[in-house]
Amino acid sequence: MLQPILEVEGFNKTFINHAQGTIIPSSNDVNFKVFPGRLTALIGPTGTGKSSVLKGVYRSYLPSAGRIVFRTAAGTQIDLAQASEHQILDLRREEIGFVTQFLYCLPRRGAQDVVAEPLLKRGMDQSEARTQACALLDALNVPERLWSVPPATFSGGEKQRVNLARGLISRPRLLLLDEPTASLDPLTTDRVIQQLDGLKAHGVAMLAIFHHPELVERIADDVVTLKPPVAA
Ligand SMILES: Nc1ncnc2c1ncn2[C@@H]1O[C@H](COP(=O)(O)OP(=O)(O)OP(=O)(O)O)[C@@H](O)[C@H]1O
Ligand SMILES: [Mg+2]
Repeated sequence: MLQPILEVEGFNKTFINHAQGTIIPSSNDVNFKVFPGRLTALIGPTGTGKSSVLKGVYRSYLPSAGRIVFRTAAGTQIDLAQASEHQILDLRREEIGFVTQFLYCLPRRGAQDVVAEPLLKRGMDQSEARTQACALLDALNVPERLWSVPPATFSGGEKQRVNLARGLISRPRLLLLDEPTASLDPLTTDRVIQQLDGLKAHGVAMLAIFHHPELVERIADDVVTLKPPVAA
């Protein structure tokens, strides 16, 4: 039987507003598994803590409670809620990728270099990394005239495509996607779906949030509905 790459058990997140002395509830008792070659979609109304779950798995947020058990390529199990910063940085470089909704890009570097960077960090030589970056930008409908231009001045949709290319290029074992197609036209959305299907075929596990319910229908293998937060 296929072993999960990720098991989330009893994940809970609350935020404390120190200025007002109040507690802001977010994700509430979230439980699910993610499998290699499959996409798990998180659904639920706004404010149910979907993005907070992804940030918890990527460890941008520390969960308030729960276990986030990740099975590494070496076969060991790590609770991401307990892992050291060092372990988390290694996993982000080698095994876990995150496509956030917005591109936080470095200025003055061309789109192809922004996209190639994860491959360079893994030790690939620059010309091969650039070739792969340009092929992916092309596949995602980014016009060639933009490949050497820094994305700072790009439109929202162009930035989102660069962001996606950067997240997809290194084929992490687990890919987190937060509304990756929210500002894309239907044609580019189809291209993204093709890419995600290609990643599945390579055994990549995905945990994703989609803005449009019809995308969940098209691409999700498993669907997890988040419960509303418990009032503080
Ligand atoms: N850093 C933070 N500090 C304080 N509150 C936060 C923080 N991040 C999230 N929250 C709160 O947690 C709750 C859940 O937010 P989250 O972004 O996870 O929801 P979501 O399900 O992704 O919503 P949406 O569908 O609108 O993207 C919200 O009430 C939000 O205000
Ligand atoms: Mg969100």
